[in-house]
Amino acid sequence: FETSNREKFRPAYHFSPVYGWMNDPNGMVYKDGVYHLFYQYNPYGSMWGNMHWGHATSTDLISWEHHGLAIAPDALGTIFSGSCVVDKDNTAGFGAGAIVAFYTSASDRQVQSMAYSLDNGKTFKKYARNPILTSTQRDFRDPKVIWHENTKKWIMVLAVGQEMEIYSSADLKNWTLESKFGEGQGAHGGVWECPDLLELPVEGTELKKWVLICNLNPGGPFGGSATQYFVGTFDGKRFVNESPAMTKWMDWGKDHYATVTWSNAPQGRVIALGWMSNWLYANDVPTRQFRSANTLPRDLTLYTSEGETYVKVSPSPELLKLRGKAEKKRAFKVDRTYDMDNMLSDHAGTYEIEMTVRNKDAKVIGFQLFNSKGEEVEMYYDLAAGKFFMDRTKGGDWTFSKEFPAITAAPVEGGVEMKLRLFVDKSSIEAFGNGGRFAMTNLVFPTEPYNRISFYAKGGSYSVTSFTVYRLGTN
Ligand code: FRU
Repeated sequence: FETSNREKFRPAYHFSPVYGWMNDPNGMVYKDGVYHLFYQYNPYGSMWGNMHWGHATSTDLISWEHHGLAIAPDALGTIFSGSCVVDKDNTAGFGAGAIVAFYTSASDRQVQSMAYSLDNGKTFKKYARNPILTSTQRDFRDPKVIWHENTKKWIMVLAVGQEMEIYSSADLKNWTLESKFGEGQGAHGGVWECPDLLELPVEGTELKKWVLICNLNPGGPFGGSATQYFVGTFDGKRFVNESPAMTKWMDWGKDHYATVTWSNAPQGRVIALGWMSNWLYANDVPTRQFRSANTLPRDLTLYTSEGETYVKVSPSPELLKLRGKAEKKRAFKVDRTYDMDNMLSDHAGTYEIEMTVRNKDAKVIGFQLFNSKGEEVEMYYDLAAGKFFMDRTKGGDWTFSKEFPAITAAPVEGGVEMKLRLFVDKSSIEAFGNGGRFAMTNLVFPTEPYNRISFYAKGGSYSVTSFTVYRLGTN
């Protein structure tokens, strides 16, 4: 980072703003070998307000160059969330290859606006005839624009109250409402925000299916904000959810929100990024000069289990490049408890653990990550419940919000062999289980990094057949 501000909860390998407040990732777009990340940004302080789009770029999704402000408020309002596309055929007439940004102008009303960049995102010019869409609805925002190949049209999905509206356009400027989606579908505990619409391959088949991402706040599985999604078909006009009775969550932690994907990503990849916080306490977390970081980038595909199709969330392969020195431990058996000596010989607190567990007959397979201050995060598979849990109630500082202590749970298929990847940074833990079949993202604020681990078994025994710790980042 180009900052001397190294306050202790600043992540070592997650994206965070140099100074000020950040929420949703916006307008991520890939062009000419460069990943662009824009984000909801308050440059004047570390709480929400004065929304701008900030900008950063990367060639590997790991190290980011900060570019400051991309789009600033104007007479139409502050700049809320949205998306970008590369207009390679110049359908809008701004120029071939223009990066065109769509965002919500927010004042006492919310309207949709656009801006374009002819210098690869360095500067944006606002479209002279903004706004491009208005409504009488109060919550009308977060335009996500995609190219739909079959109908050769641009599609915009908008979050409107507790629904999505789907529009189409030939020129990015004039939009026609095609359909609405939402009634009777999924979770409705709060307002729907930050949509995305994408096509993903179903692993092990030749099939592709459409996924509609729908962030909602509140109404998440552990309170506050969370990301749900629907799987189905999309014909250029209408999205049809194949399982209307089900609610599907993309991540089973409490700090995964506003997740959307990169436009124009290379090699047909679908790469998602979320905001690693929760509206319940985002403004109160104990950082000072900045607030919030993004999740790690994640590649999305689909898998099928018992006739139902789900999104599989895998840490993007670029993350392997972060791995520094590895410490590989010998296999061990856990009957009751097992303390690993020296999991990490230093206190950097930024590492990845990769482990494989082979169960014999245990009912609960668990472990604590802890530090010398008695702070610990406990994780366990409860095989009878068919769930993986993460308990951060004793993980460190939580005094800033009574909403912070939490035990989050993800459904798991109880197999004999279980694989887990844990990414631990200064103030977060992301767990990816069974090859991406569950992801769980939680903030933690330990007053000293967790550098020890201790395992336990209940009702039987198991073996940890492989266990490797990789130091991550530069610290
Ligand atoms: C989601 C959200 C969006 C909105 C933005 C404002 O976190 O509420 O709906 O555009 O944040 O910063």
